[in-house]
Amino acid sequence: MSAKQVETLMDRIVSLCKRRGYVFPSSEIYGGLSSCWDYGPLGAELKRNLKTFWWNAMTSRRDDVEGVDAAILMHPQVWHTSGHVTEFNDPMVDCKTCKGRFRADKLEECRCLNKPSKTPLECGGELTEVRQFNLMFKTHMGPVADDSNEVFLRPETAQGIYVNFLNVKNSSRQKIPFGIAQIGKAFRNEITPSNFIFRTREFEQMEMQYFVYPDEDEKWFEYWRQERWEWYKALGINMEKLRWHEHGKDELAHYAKAAYDIEYEYPFGWQELEGVHNRTDFDLTRHMDAVKKDLRYFDEARKEKFLPYIIETSAGCDRTLLTLLVDAYDEMEIKGEKRVFLRLSPKVAPIKAAVLPLVKKDGMPEFAEKVFADLKKRFKVFYDVAGAVGRRYARMDEAGCPYCVTVDGQTLEDNTMTVRDRDTMEQTRMTTAELMAFLDEKVNG
Ligand code: GAP
Repeated sequence: MSAKQVETLMDRIVSLCKRRGYVFPSSEIYGGLSSCWDYGPLGAELKRNLKTFWWNAMTSRRDDVEGVDAAILMHPQVWHTSGHVTEFNDPMVDCKTCKGRFRADKLEECRCLNKPSKTPLECGGELTEVRQFNLMFKTHMGPVADDSNEVFLRPETAQGIYVNFLNVKNSSRQKIPFGIAQIGKAFRNEITPSNFIFRTREFEQMEMQYFVYPDEDEKWFEYWRQERWEWYKALGINMEKLRWHEHGKDELAHYAKAAYDIEYEYPFGWQELEGVHNRTDFDLTRHMDAVKKDLRYFDEARKEKFLPYIIETSAGCDRTLLTLLVDAYDEMEIKGEKRVFLRLSPKVAPIKAAVLPLVKKDGMPEFAEKVFADLKKRFKVFYDVAGAVGRRYARMDEAGCPYCVTVDGQTLEDNTMTVRDRDTMEQTRMTTAELMAFLDEKVNG
């Protein structure tokens, strides 16, 4: 795909997101704020469904993983101990010509400010020496803004889990191996945020830390790689567009012994979607040394005290949501008209079904309203009477709604409605009870 086509496809996805209420530029009436985005009605619903899908798989449906919801602001010493203050840096260069500031290791993804069709490698501008730039946002706690009350916005949710390791173990009485999961906001002052919601400065992570015997780390590392791969399959992602990338020695984060990324083929190329890391006992050792308290786990079975190794699965929520949108986006020409389809799985689609009376008379709206009232007790559904039924189908296809339920003349005779499948366009007649069971299977099955 050429650079021009890539831009066009991403532009069309961004435009659909705005049009249908998935994602809006943040503070748009003030001209927007670079790299910040707001989720609209459908986006907020999709994000909530995605997080629930992750939470159910990683926590609710397992008896070996507990959930937490830790504070974004943590004791500043946490970030010194974890190595983020000294090592969480990206290499940065400035262009003396256009005055742009770019990530030195991603210059091919950056655009010259004077010649946006060229990268800083191509435009002929003079670049400075590489400098290290720390990615953490700082703020101050309390009324006085000085160094003594400096705090950081967390750049990852993981540390909120490590500092609570003993609290969770003691309160839940879990035994190794067990995990702690968390979904929450993280902040990174990225030098070059890019590609819509792919790389932003404020984002959400879905992380799980699994505590294991040090001599079983490799077994659990493989186990969690497999689990996470299967999760994307269950989410309905096109698996042809996913691949593993093993981190070489020069790529490994300061805390990792081994790491694999799950990468997705976005319109702008293969990029990291999630990381699975073997963090060893790096974090717990550093925290134990810093606080001078015994954070070790006593193992009844082995009769020994030790710091467990940690296998981490770390996914970006916004990045997974972008993956869902890119993966679902489809265009087709129907009877000479270009139509957009958002082929989201019913498991995460914001609206599960639309209820449409064929015409606004003959008792059809009354029947349809009753069906709508019954369905909305269990599912997020939408009622639409406005316009020709073909137009209404088209609107719902674009909004990612998998099923349209139409009340027509026959409904009034035998209580059945047509249920149109967005992807096959096949129509099947069902009663309300059959429709309920059908949606239950598709959404929760
Ligand atoms: N606790 C480990 C950790 O944070 P990471 O590879 O730096 O590892 C994990 O981040 C995931 O978080 C990434 O795979 C990505 O999905 C998401 N992520 C990281 N930085 C991001 C950013 N600036 N914008 C959106 N998502 C981001």
